Amino acid sequence: ESGYITLDEGYGNTGSCRSAITYIDGDQGILRYRGIPIEELAEKSSFIEVAWLVIFGTLPSKADRDRFSDLLSEHSALPTGMLKHFEGFPPSAHPMAILSAMINAQSAYEPGLMQIDDDASLEVAAARLMSKVRTIAAASYKSSVGQPIMHPRYDMRYVENFLHMMFTVPNRPYEPAPEVAKALNLFLLLHADHEQNCSTSTVRMVASSQANMFASCAAGVCALWGPLHGGANVAVIEMLEFIKESGMPVSEYMEKVKDKDSRLRLMGFGHRVYKNFDPRSKILKKAADDMLEQMDVDDPLLHIALEVEAAALADDYFVERKLYPNVDFYSGIILRAIGIPVDMFTVMFAMGRMPGWIANWKEIHDDPKSRIYRPRQIYTGPVDQHWVPRDER
Ligand code: SDX
Repeated sequence: ESGYITLDEGYGNTGSCRSAITYIDGDQGILRYRGIPIEELAEKSSFIEVAWLVIFGTLPSKADRDRFSDLLSEHSALPTGMLKHFEGFPPSAHPMAILSAMINAQSAYEPGLMQIDDDASLEVAAARLMSKVRTIAAASYKSSVGQPIMHPRYDMRYVENFLHMMFTVPNRPYEPAPEVAKALNLFLLLHADHEQNCSTSTVRMVASSQANMFASCAAGVCALWGPLHGGANVAVIEMLEFIKESGMPVSEYMEKVKDKDSRLRLMGFGHRVYKNFDPRSKILKKAADDMLEQMDVDDPLLHIALEVEAAALADDYFVERKLYPNVDFYSGIILRAIGIPVDMFTVMFAMGRMPGWIANWKEIHDDPKSRIYRPRQIYTGPVDQHWVPRDER
């Protein structure tokens, strides 16, 4: 009845699991990828290096890093068949719908990637998936604004190439400012994995049936789409814009949130595991501040965000419920400053989370003891019922 489940040995039928990828201490606000604190990785590492760490368990050697980067560049273009598949979507299609469909389709256009027997074949499949996700995301944006799809540049690194494919227009190449590439790198790095959240558990659920990596990650995209999960970064901006456009004092909005009848939630606040600050939000808050200062951009939504945070931290209603800013609260400020449209925010989350999903798929795929997930239920339906002829119903 408590809703809590006991840890089952191995991969249980309760949905709990053992994993060596990410460690979270929700009370202390600790987050580590393969034992390394994210504060260190945020300061010293990069998204691609962290992706390797999350997937393979160790920091990459120079040779690993160079080989993986080459694979990411080599496989960044969409093959003709996938391009045709993409072109079937209307420009108004939600980018998460496109992304989940295209990831699943990739296994049809690159069937050889379905057979992953060792780390070498996983490295190729992971690079091809992560690289295509970036291209599909940028292409979704271009299609939505009626611009031609920009082909990847093979001389650009992962993040810069994404920004090029997003913002270059014919005859006007886009060269990302260093602070923009740095902020996006950080955003993706901080989203790389996060233990057994809703979408990662979905990936593991699908992987536990021995489904292929693409099917499992496509399912993760679908789970992430929801506003209580990956869609929250969109909801945060919508909330801040509502407060700004309505001219409503932040204090008045907070009172509305506290009124249960309003069914309003303080988007970007609260977390099932963190009952303290989400360590990622602290890093993203500083990155947002720094980036806006370097770009000399004054975003009114940042000011409102800071007001909302201060009000929540001073209000017993939120403090008693341990509702602190989570990863989504400051993410949107950074993505807005980069120029990413709001309906692309959750796709950015998916791009960042891809290494974590791949790593969780791999953990199940590599474990001979892995069993199919089969969560239990408490039956609450009617009993002792019988069929009734239609004219007696
Ligand atoms: C992510 O799991 C992960 O790791 C996810 C994630 C990841 O990296 O994968 O960290 C990414 O999804 C972050 C969360 C993004 N979502 C949001 O910001 C949406 C707003 N937050 C909530 O909806 C909520 O806080 C959740 C969904 C994040 C967590 O919900 P819980 O733990 O199930 O909390 P709950 O619904 O049981 O609420 C407990 C109490 C309730 O009040 P009471 O009934 O006790 O009076 O807290 C209240 C809730 O009403 N509450 C909120 C609130 N979140 C919970 N009240 C106002 N605003 C909120 N945001």
